[in-house]
Amino acid sequence: MESEFERKVLMCGIVGYTGTNDATDILIGGLKRLEYRGYDSAGIALGNDEGIESVCRKGRVGDLEQTVAGMQLDGACGIGHTRWATHGTPSEANAHPHLSCEGDIAIVHNGIIENFMELKEELLSRGHEFTSQTDSEVIAHLLEEEYALLAFDDSGQDDIANAQGRRLDRTPDKMIASGDPSVLAQAVSHVTERLIGSYGLAAITSHEPGVIVVARKDSPLVVGAAPDGSYLASDMIALLDATRDVLILEDGQVAELTPSGIALFAREHDELVSCEYETTHIDWSVDSAEKGGYDDFMLKEIHEQPRVIRDTLAGRLVGDRITIDELGMSPAELNLIDKVYIIACGTSYHAGLIAKNLIERWAHIPTEVEVASEFRYRNPIITPTTLVVAVSQSGETADTLAAIRDARIKGARVFGITNVVGSPVARESDGVIYTKANKEIAVASTKSFLGQVVSLTLLALLLAQTKGNLTTGQIRLLFSELADTAEQVEEIISDTTDIDSAALACKDASSALFIGRGMGAATATEGALKLKEISYLHAEAYPAGEMKHGPIALIDEGFPVIAIATKSPTYEKVLSNLQESKARGAMVVAIATQGDEEIGKYADHVIFIPKVRDELSPITASVPLQLFARAIALERGCDVDQPRNLAKSVTVE
Ligand code: F6R
Repeated sequence: MESEFERKVLMCGIVGYTGTNDATDILIGGLKRLEYRGYDSAGIALGNDEGIESVCRKGRVGDLEQTVAGMQLDGACGIGHTRWATHGTPSEANAHPHLSCEGDIAIVHNGIIENFMELKEELLSRGHEFTSQTDSEVIAHLLEEEYALLAFDDSGQDDIANAQGRRLDRTPDKMIASGDPSVLAQAVSHVTERLIGSYGLAAITSHEPGVIVVARKDSPLVVGAAPDGSYLASDMIALLDATRDVLILEDGQVAELTPSGIALFAREHDELVSCEYETTHIDWSVDSAEKGGYDDFMLKEIHEQPRVIRDTLAGRLVGDRITIDELGMSPAELNLIDKVYIIACGTSYHAGLIAKNLIERWAHIPTEVEVASEFRYRNPIITPTTLVVAVSQSGETADTLAAIRDARIKGARVFGITNVVGSPVARESDGVIYTKANKEIAVASTKSFLGQVVSLTLLALLLAQTKGNLTTGQIRLLFSELADTAEQVEEIISDTTDIDSAALACKDASSALFIGRGMGAATATEGALKLKEISYLHAEAYPAGEMKHGPIALIDEGFPVIAIATKSPTYEKVLSNLQESKARGAMVVAIATQGDEEIGKYADHVIFIPKVRDELSPITASVPLQLFARAIALERGCDVDQPRNLAKSVTVE
């Protein structure tokens, strides 16, 4: 028996198409592009005036594709969904699309409906029958009721013809359509008023063939018109083959897609009013979303890192000054900052740990780094002179967003560092730096992490410049060394022989320790996370000085200790820790500075990296750790791009 908690449907992908082509192939193609977001079940629904045909499968989109290949699905309008559930066994019944009782309405939903229990009870009491445990299904049943109220007159006569007549008044083949919303759009709008929580949703009905209606709140949705019809997706990557001019929906907006174009509406006093809109041109190459000749996305993305460093730094040194105009704060305002909070989750949090060291060293501003899910419930002390820096690759992590909102309510200035243009983090922050990583497909973050570290390094330099703690000469030198890391990373990834042999030696371990001091301790945290998330090998990071306070008890013959042992003020101390580890039988893998002749005495495997100043060492030292984790994961037969139980964006708590 499945538990009610299975309702939590997270981090899913949504697609839709209405036009002149066969929708099935387009929907499956779109779902494949989104599969990195969630992959435990998938489904599509196609609608025409004879009804709605829906097919769902547990498993990957490939399983769904095989199923539909053997069917005669007919239709040029449909919606699709790929799902990732938090609890219990993913099942076909819980897969989207969900249908109304009569089967004349289908919906897909991304997000979570917090008041679904209350709504479900209400709907059950009125005779609705549910077929899944999901929260999303309430939307289909609510729509069924709302649609009936709007579309059928008191005698039960179908009033759809009128509604269709109104829609046909619109100028075809124009992105900006005018006129009244369809009945479905009105019904969706009314239903969303009853929903508490987050949603990106798309609906179709057999009463209005060719129409798809979408709405969103705190969950991304983009739509785009192409010569062959209109498209929707929860991520623009699924649209890029069809169109590069997209409309990024805002919370509260409702869009209506027809084969001839897209109409946008906003709610005003219980009414949907038509709005004009501008599209955003996306210039990423579709190829950047493909593997580009590499065995997996993770490797491709690791190789993109020199480019990310260069792009992130481009235009940031103007004359002798670090320039981040997007910060939206004057030098006088910046100068008042007396406290920095960095809030983030996972890998982004680790980028924050690195930045704390830099901000405190260079700008002398006390800095705290906090996991967003803790920050938001802890009532941290924030004043108008606190700068909150929210770091999020996806820009849509629920906890990070909630923390931003809390911080703003408390009066802080919030600065976002994100990879996704127009993402909620970008929109809800006072200023934003884009990390220029471009789309990251592999679930494990690599190039985005480096983009974050470089962006945060820039921020630290800017704060130091504003506070007058670094001279212009020092700033120029640091910036130039930062820029040099692009070439150094190129050198590291050009030869992975030593990394691969260290990985081979560690692949059968059941646990590993990552250690370092100072910048190295922060780098170690990310090394351990990369290893555990893609190879399922348990790994922990510890400041090396803490070894004697507990973790050293873990060490016995062959236990891997991976040390960040680059040249730094605490290098000698790290060597002592390695000696202690070796004395207990550890297999030591050291990330060390080229030219270090001593390290070989303390380590079984040495991975040399180019010499950089200590403050910049996380940029270079984290790259071999990414490659090390990937090599172990491949040795252990793991899927490095789509590790089990993980999803790329965590859009609910
Ligand atoms: C790990 C990883 C995750 C994310 C975390 C936060 O490789 O990718 O730990 O870093 O889920 O995601 P964002 O940065 O999108 O807020």
